[in-house]
Amino acid sequence: MIEAIAAATTRNTRSTVDYLTTTHEVLESIIDQINDGIVIASPEGTISYHNEVIRGLFGIGKETRIDHLKDLCHINWSKRLARAAIDSGGDYGTLVASDRSIHFEEKIHAGDSIRFLEFTIKRLFSHSRHHEVRVIVVRDVSAKRRLEATLQSGGTCGLITSSPEMLKVLEKARQIAASDASVMLQGESGTGKSCVARLIHEQSTRNRYPMVEVNCAAVPETLMESEFFGHTKGAFTGAHDLRQGKFQAADHGTLFLDEIGELPLHLQAKILHAIEDRRFQMLGSNETLNVNFRLVSASNINLRDAVDTNQFRPDLYYRIAVIPINIPPLRDRIGDVPLLVNHFCDDLVARGHKDNIKVTKAAWQALLNYPWPGNIRELNNAVEHGVICSDNGIVDVDSLPQDIRLYSREVPAARPAAQAPNLEGPGEENALRNQQIELQEALEKAHGSKALAAQILGIDRTTLWRRMQKAGLAG
Ligand SMILES: Nc1ncnc2c1ncn2[C@@H]1O[C@H](COP(=O)(O)OP(=O)(O)OP(=O)(O)O)[C@@H](O)[C@H]1O
Ligand SMILES: [Mg+2]
Repeated sequence: MIEAIAAATTRNTRSTVDYLTTTHEVLESIIDQINDGIVIASPEGTISYHNEVIRGLFGIGKETRIDHLKDLCHINWSKRLARAAIDSGGDYGTLVASDRSIHFEEKIHAGDSIRFLEFTIKRLFSHSRHHEVRVIVVRDVSAKRRLEATLQSGGTCGLITSSPEMLKVLEKARQIAASDASVMLQGESGTGKSCVARLIHEQSTRNRYPMVEVNCAAVPETLMESEFFGHTKGAFTGAHDLRQGKFQAADHGTLFLDEIGELPLHLQAKILHAIEDRRFQMLGSNETLNVNFRLVSASNINLRDAVDTNQFRPDLYYRIAVIPINIPPLRDRIGDVPLLVNHFCDDLVARGHKDNIKVTKAAWQALLNYPWPGNIRELNNAVEHGVICSDNGIVDVDSLPQDIRLYSREVPAARPAAQAPNLEGPGEENALRNQQIELQEALEKAHGSKALAAQILGIDRTTLWRRMQKAGLAG
């Protein structure tokens, strides 16, 4: 009997140990999937666990031990906690007693870079409350902060967006503006390539000099060379005067070659040399001119495909596309439609239209359903058309351009509406459906990781959770 009990106890102990070991392993592998840094420390600051992300966030190499909070960065932790408590409207004692988590943000030096890190600190107790640990979650919010700084400084050249993809484009444009690297903007017509080129120029140190634009599709082939390089008097029939070319005009500034995919092959070789050496000769002159410009190019055809089909020189492609930036079409950021419609309505009011514009539900539905082949330029025109043809400021489907009216009649089932704008909303049901699709897409992209899905959508995890519940996706 005693032996049987002993055997059962051993079995139970072993299964408990197995269970605990498995749980521990599962937890560790979950923590390894998280993009945030995680630290477990005693109230005195001694660290008993940290994940690998912590090293990256604080710029600490593998060879350095991390034993104490002060090994992470030079923060006066107790002062910082007290300040966080005051910022949240209480004092540290009350906050700690309430067991609420404490949040604060710090700008820290991590290796050569400056990072904005968000800290969330939560106290955890053993059952008896004799043993206390602090779980610290650290998140890198640098990109968000820099973007906010860009938006607040008005440095988006009028670009309006709430799309995470487009916000990434703006952040990248801001980030690379300071360098001299050649940028290639790729995107459909009307997606905002020229605006992003302007943003890069405005944010660069070259902004005291001009941004000189050449639309390669608009210049006749016979005049292209003189347009780029200029000509001397009498260089060819009709060259009555010396004329400076665009390359020279862009000296110290930015040269923006729009629709560069339209350059004929024979000119691509000439341009390549001028771009590589930043030197060229005017037509009719033997004198070599040196210039110093930053090159930004744009194309609405896929230049890689053009390289594959021998329509674009690969050497020129690699020279101009050191930093490629893809601008997403409006149909992939349909959540921007309400924002842009409101923006274009405000613009019309600023240009003298009466401040009484209302958009009906049906018109919102049509605007949100439409696939926007002409992108933002087409949307701008549609709003202007809608307002001009509106009945006393009320924009209905019939006020919209014909293409949109026809399309909305062909597609009775509304594509889901994005965040309801300030005027008249497209309806709860649509908004919910839109949110459902947005959530599903983000979760798919994130392979089910809620943390990543929240990042993709540009929302925090609590908001994601709330939205998932509302959309019936939590479970
Ligand atoms: N995010 C945005 N917010 C507000 N307006 C925008 C935005 N993006 C583009 N626009 C407006 O849409 C129009 C088209 O933009 P832009 O000329 O930059 O596009 P593009 O990609 O250069 O077009 P194209 O291929 O025809 O040269 C412009 O009037 C621009 O001001
Ligand atoms: Mg353009």
